Amino acid sequence: MDSTALALDAPAPAVPDDADEGVWLGCIDCGETYPPFESVRYTCDCGGLLEVRYAEPAGFDEFGPDGHSGAPQRGVWRYAAALPFAEGVSLPEGDTPLHRVPRLEDDVGVASLRIKHEGMNPTGSFKDRGMTVGVMAARRLGVGRLACASTGNTSAALAAYGGRAGMETLVLLPAGKVAAGKVAQAALHGARILEVDGNFDACLDIVQELAERGEAYLLNSLNPFRLEGQKTIGFEILEAHREDYGTFPDRIVLPVGNAGNTAALYKAFRELVQAGNLEPEEVPALTGVQASGAAPMVEAIEEGTEEIRRWEEVETIATAIRIGNPVNAPKALPGIRNTGGTAVAVEDEEITAAQRDLAGEGVGVEPASAASVAGLRKLRERGVVDDDERVVCLTTGHLLKDPDAAYEAGNDPEPVPNDADAVLAHLRE
Ligand code: F0G
Repeated sequence: MDSTALALDAPAPAVPDDADEGVWLGCIDCGETYPPFESVRYTCDCGGLLEVRYAEPAGFDEFGPDGHSGAPQRGVWRYAAALPFAEGVSLPEGDTPLHRVPRLEDDVGVASLRIKHEGMNPTGSFKDRGMTVGVMAARRLGVGRLACASTGNTSAALAAYGGRAGMETLVLLPAGKVAAGKVAQAALHGARILEVDGNFDACLDIVQELAERGEAYLLNSLNPFRLEGQKTIGFEILEAHREDYGTFPDRIVLPVGNAGNTAALYKAFRELVQAGNLEPEEVPALTGVQASGAAPMVEAIEEGTEEIRRWEEVETIATAIRIGNPVNAPKALPGIRNTGGTAVAVEDEEITAAQRDLAGEGVGVEPASAASVAGLRKLRERGVVDDDERVVCLTTGHLLKDPDAAYEAGNDPEPVPNDADAVLAHLRE
């Protein structure tokens, strides 16, 4: 394995002949390079994961309309200089809030706590950032049918962005394990929904095989173009945090399923280091959180192993991260380790408690998202996170994605008579 390629201070790679306007695909294992748009390719011939590489990694000065001609002020395409296209199939996405949560900040006991709420994207999750780039890549490659396996949010985003692009979409979902809001979105945006009698990992096995046979273009996070869009979460956090506090955050805590976001944030930071905009010591400690019923990444971090052990049986209330085989682990494990981060597992009850805490401050998130806050709390209690740290928790999906979980976690409705006096009497009880 070419472990230097993913080092935090790895120099920008030499430009190969395969590059197309300074963009190419490179293997994180063997270093092999491929032209980005000549043919469809998700992984290297050696089996390693690919990443999009740039002749000139972009820095802060190149973001927005002043840095890159035609780039908008806000949203994913503000960062066009760091992306493989100048524009995408857009709804538009990104530019999500970095909420203050003063009571929770006090309660957890850190110097500052901010919530980057990715549930505020067009389809209610961070997946939109990946799809605006990924569906653009599909267009550029001239493919026909788009497909993904999903615990729900990817399918909602693919259906919406595929619809926007006028392309056929196919989504494979684990039967009975996808939250209602997500299935509703995929259905109404016009995807064909195939329910598989198996978990997410089984769905991904099937869709990978369909992609290998040339039957569909894969838009899971194995697709390196998706992660390019998701890098912009990292750019937005750094810019906003520096504006508010004059510094970058010490730590970013995020839920982990396939570990695509962990890989994408790490790539964003590596590129800023390459651009000379960020010192390696300034990179926030990437801290992953999984549900204890689906925690193979946590296991690998705790045991110090390079390989992930695939969990065949997974279960959690946070169905979005009910995943036993995080395919982006080879990109994400170095991200956690090289930034001084860690990983932690949380119980379903802790997730629900954190979901209530966030909702109490007006921030409505789905269970998987609340895992980040539950993980932070646990790491504070264990003394792993210090009280002087500035922390950002990523909340990945909106409350309405999973109405059943919200209903379960929230207050019960109280039946009252159709009469004001009776309502007041009830309130005084
Ligand atoms: N949070 C939410 C709300 C998600 O939907 C997902 C992944 C994650 C966190 C984990 O992100 O995979 O980058 O580590 N959902 C995928 C899907 C698997 O199909 O919607 P990751």
